[in-house]
Amino acid sequence: MNNPFTNGRVYCGSIREEDIGKRVTVCGWVARARDLGGLIFVDMRDREGIAQCVFDQTINPELFDKAQSLRSEYTASITGTVRMRSSINEKIPTGRVEILAESVTIFAASETTPFEILDDVSVNDALRLKYRYLDLRRPTLQKALALRHRITQLARNYFDENGFLEIETPILTKSTPEGARDYLVPSRVHPGEFYALPQSPQQYKQLLMLSGFDRYIQIARCFRDEDLRYDRQPEFTQIDLEMSFVDIDDVIAVNEGFLKRLFKEIQGIDLQLPLQRMTYAEAMSRYGSDKPDLRFGMELHDLTELAKDCGFSVFENAANSGGIVTAICAKGAGDKLSRKEVDALGEYVKTYRAKGLAWIKLTTKGDMSSSFAKFLSAEKLEALKQAVGAENGDLILCVADSDVELAQNALGALRCNVARKLDMIPANVWKPLWIVEFPLFEYGEDDDGNTRLYAKHHPFTAPMDEDIALFDTDPIKMRAKAYDIVLNGTELGGGSIRIHDSGVQQKMFNALGFTNEDTEARFGHMLTAFKYGAPPHGGLAYGLDRMVMWMAGTENIRDVIAFPKVQNASDLMMDCPSEVDDKQLRDLSIKLDLPKKE
Ligand code: AMO
Ligand code: AMP
Repeated sequence: MNNPFTNGRVYCGSIREEDIGKRVTVCGWVARARDLGGLIFVDMRDREGIAQCVFDQTINPELFDKAQSLRSEYTASITGTVRMRSSINEKIPTGRVEILAESVTIFAASETTPFEILDDVSVNDALRLKYRYLDLRRPTLQKALALRHRITQLARNYFDENGFLEIETPILTKSTPEGARDYLVPSRVHPGEFYALPQSPQQYKQLLMLSGFDRYIQIARCFRDEDLRYDRQPEFTQIDLEMSFVDIDDVIAVNEGFLKRLFKEIQGIDLQLPLQRMTYAEAMSRYGSDKPDLRFGMELHDLTELAKDCGFSVFENAANSGGIVTAICAKGAGDKLSRKEVDALGEYVKTYRAKGLAWIKLTTKGDMSSSFAKFLSAEKLEALKQAVGAENGDLILCVADSDVELAQNALGALRCNVARKLDMIPANVWKPLWIVEFPLFEYGEDDDGNTRLYAKHHPFTAPMDEDIALFDTDPIKMRAKAYDIVLNGTELGGGSIRIHDSGVQQKMFNALGFTNEDTEARFGHMLTAFKYGAPPHGGLAYGLDRMVMWMAGTENIRDVIAFPKVQNASDLMMDCPSEVDDKQLRDLSIKLDLPKKE
């Protein structure tokens, strides 16, 4: 491969048998240098791979002497002629050929690196991230970032072909409470006032619809001050889009086209369209999750009716107080999991605020042990086993609670946990689906500990037309025109049709308990804008990082971000956040009031 603008340089990883006899120049890093006495083999590495270069003392003693100084991670340029290798390495694409060196230029020496630049070297994460620029030399990270580029490019092309315009929106913007915590930026010119970094371009993209840019896309950086997890970073990237004069099916159709192209070009997989759609209510009752993993079964069974007079008070109380008794049957787990492991599952559901886990362990030998079966009549026990489809060898796990969603969530999380434990999740299976008909509201606690309604998605999400009357009577029952795209148990993206009627928007703010002053101060600009002819509109945003994670097959979001942050949101390489000069603080009229250091 001869790249343009490289003065005849080729990528190390690009040379093949058809290049034999060609004179080439490679530039890169010394991955390994071996002196076999009379012959020096130097593996040169660049972003495309490795090229073996050979220095032969008998051919050119002076050059051989020069090559003797090459050490790992030196940067150099080697020119030579491609020839067949004497010992073939089928593990790498360049493994049949090598370059017989004719000249070498050493650009820079390297100190011994804090860890070896190899994919399978075991180093602790902190050291890796401190020297991220070295870590990034590893082939998997090079591949992951190249893949990320391809996906971003594919998104840009696809949406461009479909009439979307890429428009940038501000990074210095206004704090609007409701979502996660904002990152704030103090203003020097307006002492005591702050910008916020955007949690998403949500408001701007809606305003662009009002301006007539009926199809918008942006590869947008978003900032959220929330706890980090394996799939969450404080700054991350969305493929963000919005469309005018559309309803749910239009947004879904454009995005299914995108997903089809993505799967075809990146994974070589033909997605069957339309994708499955499942209501939120169904996802919660069958999978205990609004992002169900459909790669395996083990669905939840509702045992509430059966539990009403079953004799076990925990179940009866939940069933008779408007709650739920829900159960999964883990095939084969009755044999495979020990009593101790089952107890650990009980502890696990408690982290999801379940009050306990009731279980029945059946073995193929016909033994049964259980935390609660003794309270049940033989008929009830049989009915329960039948309801969940249990046979000898299985493990039945039940959660009961007066709070239906709490019980479903806890058991849904346990379902995934058990599936991982029992190796039930098949590799290379892709199960994307849409979750639709989300609740418009959820209950949450405000700063004073009072329970109030919060928008489940965000306060601009439109209610379903048939539910609008419930604003005045039973808002918690309202469903939203919101949809999430879920893949194998991860929320890849989400969006909604927005409210474009200022009357409905006002009702929404009222339901959220905002006073008129609150609304004016926080969202006045939106309400005013909507007075001037708003088109019906809606959109969606994908988490690009999560999308690349799946396509790259990694389980950590850090593997697809060039310079990620660690658990406590700091950047170990740049060593930030960091203190600033007193002068900078004075300019910003900021005085620190820090707790005394111990
Ligand atoms: P939402 O908040 O659901 O919607 O975000 C959209 C997608 O962004 C990804 N995501 C994250 N990825 C990494 N780290 C994070 N901290 C993080 N937070 C979210 C998820 C998620 O599905 N403005 C709306 C979209 C819309 O309505 O059009 C929004 O931001 O994959
Ligand atoms: P107890 O009679 O309190 O010892 O409970 C018997 C079994 O019921 C134990 O295995 C508990 O973990 C379980 N249990 C308690 N509360 C719940 C609940 N809300 N849902 C399911 N199981 C529970």
